[in-house]
Amino acid sequence: MCGIVGCTGSAPVKDVLISGLKRLEYRGYDSAGIAVQKPAGPGGAPAPDLVVVHRVGKVAGLESELEHQSIPGTCGIGHTRWATHGRPSTANAHPHTSCAGDIAVVHNGIIENFAELREELIARGHHFTSETDTEVLPHLIEEAYEGAPDGTGAEEATHDLLRAVRRAMRRVVGAYGIAVTCAQEPGVIVTTRKDSPIVVGRGADASYLASDLIALIDATRDVVILEDGECARLTPDGITYYDAAGKAMEPRITHVDWDLDMAEKGGYPDFMIKEIMEQPRVVRDTLAGRMVGGELTIDELGLTPEELNLIDRVYVIACGTSYHAGLIAKNLIERWARIPTEVEAASEFRYRNPIITPSTLVVAVSQSGETADTLAAIRDARIKGAKVFGITNVIGSPVARESDGVIYTKANKEIAVASTKSFIGQVVSLSLLALSLAQAKGRMTTGEVRMLFREMGDTAEQIQWIFDTQEPAIEEAAAAMKDAHSALFVGRGIASAICYEGALKLKEISYLHAEAYAAGEMKHGPIALIDPGFPVITVATQSPVYDKTISNLKECEARGAKIIAVATEGDEDIKQIADHVIYVPRVRDCFTPITATVPLQLLARSVALLRGCDVDQPRNLAKSVTVE
Ligand code: AGP
Repeated sequence: MCGIVGCTGSAPVKDVLISGLKRLEYRGYDSAGIAVQKPAGPGGAPAPDLVVVHRVGKVAGLESELEHQSIPGTCGIGHTRWATHGRPSTANAHPHTSCAGDIAVVHNGIIENFAELREELIARGHHFTSETDTEVLPHLIEEAYEGAPDGTGAEEATHDLLRAVRRAMRRVVGAYGIAVTCAQEPGVIVTTRKDSPIVVGRGADASYLASDLIALIDATRDVVILEDGECARLTPDGITYYDAAGKAMEPRITHVDWDLDMAEKGGYPDFMIKEIMEQPRVVRDTLAGRMVGGELTIDELGLTPEELNLIDRVYVIACGTSYHAGLIAKNLIERWARIPTEVEAASEFRYRNPIITPSTLVVAVSQSGETADTLAAIRDARIKGAKVFGITNVIGSPVARESDGVIYTKANKEIAVASTKSFIGQVVSLSLLALSLAQAKGRMTTGEVRMLFREMGDTAEQIQWIFDTQEPAIEEAAAAMKDAHSALFVGRGIASAICYEGALKLKEISYLHAEAYAAGEMKHGPIALIDPGFPVITVATQSPVYDKTISNLKECEARGAKIIAVATEGDEDIKQIADHVIYVPRVRDCFTPITATVPLQLLARSVALLRGCDVDQPRNLAKSVTVE
């Protein structure tokens, strides 16, 4: 989520860092900062000091603050922070520094064992100034650098930043991309990663690093994408790379032939596909740090387990795609926690008189966090005495500010108007909420919660499998329906919610009329629409209602419908009824929304492109709907 830049050369780096951070603004962030080495003193003697400036707010604010400061240093690192541990504040903004202030670190990721490390470090006399997980890093590196006792027996000083970083990171559990600079080593930056991207490159007269290629593109087109455990040591004269065992290695240079527009889209032709492809990461990031010591942890709920246990009714209020995530939440909360749950369009909720008591939980779901109807519904629910919990993608958004507690989906900024990755982030977040409620109500054992949590994490790879194997099937299905005038999406159980989202995606970007129905409803009206060749898209994955879905599809087949089925890998029988089959991996029914929505997003996009539509900016639609 956070953004990282670094540069070391012979010219002042302040402006390079600021422009790199601006390139990373699209990721969404709440604060920004830089650390720059003070230039060497007279006679080349090192000036063991760093200038660190960090503040809450936009990069432009940081830039204005720096305008009046003379910072001639030629080696520095910068960061945009997206709060995870600790609220957005100046104290929590990166870079973070060691006790002596001579080592600065910027970090993207989550240190899962930070609480334990922080306690140890404080016991050994380290002083902390933030609430972040990241701050343990400069202190761990400081101990390794200075040879202070760190409890591991490896007490000798390294006085070598690279070795100190490598030694410190052995203590860390979690995900990280980091850049580190140390005042004792003029011109040196060390970077390493695990499960968080770091890209390194050599420009004409300086060495660069960033968490995203887009921040390097003005400096170089030849980059090295670090793999987990690898390190790079950057100096003004060049870059040395080290493998995970610490041995110097030849860099794997990737030449990037992208213009800025392509770079912003990650090399993809449009934002929608870029955002669809990010979904495995969204699953991982949304789950990261949630299982601490084997316990599901959602501190932001702001409710104790006892208070959660008292909840006897849930309303999910939302609009559009977020409403569809709410339909999935209803299924899961009722299934796992046995709490009656209603899902309501925020625009309706606000104008009726819902039954709300102090034991009612209202869950407001909004990607943008500023949808007018959802906000009005939150205000109304709070006046009536409900606890309101927000699920949003935008830090500090009105939904976040006006709710009693908030879970941030880790989708990063979503640019395409049609929501894709934020939907997956919402579904994963709502699943976590449902598990927490089930746990608090004593409806699920800790073991069951852990098992479901692990299986939810597996969906990241399962989505990737869909990308890797199903493109031809999706393209074929898209070609078969592109000239239709209308389409029906049908499914049963939790799959009906997936169908509502699939139909919305198709209509909003391809302008092909589409409706979704619970498959059992077909014969009560919609089946009248079906004539030969009419496209019926179904989610018919393995579930307790699979056979029922097949019966409903047979009714459509008998009337000549062209059936496009999303089915479970290995289901050969479905081919007897479906004209086109798109497979998804076998998952537990409750996790089908995370996997089976993905081919429907891809199908909608392919149909839209075949119909010549702009998939990122469909007509008549806005990304945030801030009017009633
Ligand atoms: C989805 O593709 C649409 N862009 C739209 O339905 C959207 O989900 C809806 O307007 C709600 O927005 P929100 O999540 O930002 O509140």
